[in-house]
Amino acid sequence: MKKWLFMSLMAVLVLALAACSGDKKGNASAPVEGDGGYTKEKPLIIKFSHVTSIDSVKGKAADAFAKLVDEKTEGKVKVEVYPSSQLYGDNDELDALVSGNVHMIAPSVTKMVKIDPRWQYVDMPYLFESDEHVRKFFKSDVAKLILESDQLAANDIKGLVFWENGFKHFSNNKHPLVNVEDFKGLKFRAQAGKVLEAQFKALNAGSATIAFGETYAALQQGTVDGQENTFNNFDTQKYQEVQKYFSVSQHGRLDYAIFVNKSFWDKIPADLLKAVEESLDEATKLAWDLAAEENAKSFENIKNSGIEVIELDDAQKEAIKTKLEPVYEEFSDSITEELINGIRDLK
Ligand code: LMR
Repeated sequence: MKKWLFMSLMAVLVLALAACSGDKKGNASAPVEGDGGYTKEKPLIIKFSHVTSIDSVKGKAADAFAKLVDEKTEGKVKVEVYPSSQLYGDNDELDALVSGNVHMIAPSVTKMVKIDPRWQYVDMPYLFESDEHVRKFFKSDVAKLILESDQLAANDIKGLVFWENGFKHFSNNKHPLVNVEDFKGLKFRAQAGKVLEAQFKALNAGSATIAFGETYAALQQGTVDGQENTFNNFDTQKYQEVQKYFSVSQHGRLDYAIFVNKSFWDKIPADLLKAVEESLDEATKLAWDLAAEENAKSFENIKNSGIEVIELDDAQKEAIKTKLEPVYEEFSDSITEELINGIRDLK
């Protein structure tokens, strides 16, 4: 009798757990119809964590998304945005997403290298020619190779859309970076991954992976001499206070994708999910517009900040590009020709 009771309890427990979690390959239980009984007083909470400030491109787009969701669901879904690495930083936000401690993140895509090395496509030197080229890629089937990959699904992650930031440029504290020889012996902060390490090595420089939230202090304390980032990230992090020379090099990209915890997402009641998805579409359009506007404003702020700004000419950029060619030799296999050539073909 006792054994039977034990077996029955175990069966109930297993069924309950299966119903709660779906399966990790993504066949979650069917979503609830309607609004699932959520109300303004008792809303469904979506925790959205990111590392940049509220006045950055990503910060503004994330807040706009939260506002749109609130309006479209009449308060039945509340997006709690945690900016500035407040809840999780670079080192733990992906783990927090996989474990379901946050439901949504928008990392710079190179930080997804832990799951799939192909996300380092974004760091391949001078791969993208313009913002238009980047947008064509976001809308292409080539982008689906990584946004809808088995690697994400195996980690219970769903990739939804791309958000734009912009081109990266170099800055440092030692001397103006004009010619390729000027990089020699300097040490730069890098976001993540082997491609960026190889990029700096090809320039005869060193690098250290440092979380975004710790970069200002690392520049201030001289742990590293320089860094690379977009105009807007540089400006909104106030790196002009701790950097002396800024070279407009446009050598790589920094863009985002929105990733959600798949088990959580698949259980959002149908009507609410529709409103959340519409809000995300609108916020995405806004993020793309904001990227250009905010980066242009930030460039002006940087020029007016008193630091020395060097606008590299085509020949100087070409020299950096040539010096960085070994990066393609080293990483084309792991990032795949399919992805790299697919991106090039979209020019
Ligand atoms: C960085 O680490 O420099 C960026 O990825 C920060 C961000 O999210 O834009």
